[in-house]
Amino acid sequence: METRMTPDTVNRPRTVEQVVQGTATSDGAGVKLTRVLMPHLQQRLDPFLMLDVFRSDEPGDYLAGFPDHPHRGFETVTYMLAGRMRHRDSAGHEGLLQNGDVQWMNAGRGIVHSEMPEQEDGLMEGFQLWINLPARHKMDAPGYRDIPHAAIPAYTAPEGAVVRVIAGQSNGVKGAVHRETTEPVYLDIQLPARSAFVTAIPSSHNAFVYVYRGALQVGGRLVESGRMAVLDSDAQADGVRLVAVEEPAGAILVAGKPLREPIVQYGPFVMNSREEIYQALADFREGHFS
Ligand code: CO
Repeated sequence: METRMTPDTVNRPRTVEQVVQGTATSDGAGVKLTRVLMPHLQQRLDPFLMLDVFRSDEPGDYLAGFPDHPHRGFETVTYMLAGRMRHRDSAGHEGLLQNGDVQWMNAGRGIVHSEMPEQEDGLMEGFQLWINLPARHKMDAPGYRDIPHAAIPAYTAPEGAVVRVIAGQSNGVKGAVHRETTEPVYLDIQLPARSAFVTAIPSSHNAFVYVYRGALQVGGRLVESGRMAVLDSDAQADGVRLVAVEEPAGAILVAGKPLREPIVQYGPFVMNSREEIYQALADFREGHFS
């Protein structure tokens, strides 16, 4: 869906506070992935709780998939660049996620789901982002949306960057998803070599850029592929400026308004207190997750 853009004015782009290299890990039934946003950054990047990146053309790295497992208290956003993954959950939703599709799941008070590859070879590449829910919405009914590639608004910026607006808005283009309270912005940006791109971002938001192809100058600092740049929170900063270096580059830009509430995580449950975690475990054991 190509949409007309109206350029944002950015006078003071954010700088990079730190560059983070992910940690190789495995999850589900043994899927190899890189955890880029780790628990020690949850306060700093509030409302974002986790970012996992998976990229492999070795079937042994992904075939085991993520069999049935629970979640409570936050949203999961899965963005597939390549590959096919089947989602099924206890609320009766089912969907196939592939090349450029997004799945936005609100775990709310509890959901049990599986995410299983539907391919036996070839490249599997994508991201899973966890976004916290405000305390008052953690026990809401679960929700689920499949957003096919063609339904994600896209535009071409003046120097040629192709931008897909998954959530929030950028250069006047409204994204596929709007969420109150955390007001997330989620952009996929593909830049031609040596091109620049700017977008406004509210100064209230915490923000990061993860580079998945090539290399980018972010606020004047070089960020290589496979690295996350945590952007400075500066009340005067009004946006983000990215410049591709010698080759075409790709990145996701994620920003959101912090909740400033206590974060207590136990595996797939993220609540505000230990008591609420014990309750989640008890509810799950007793089969109360839908
Ligand atoms: Co899950």
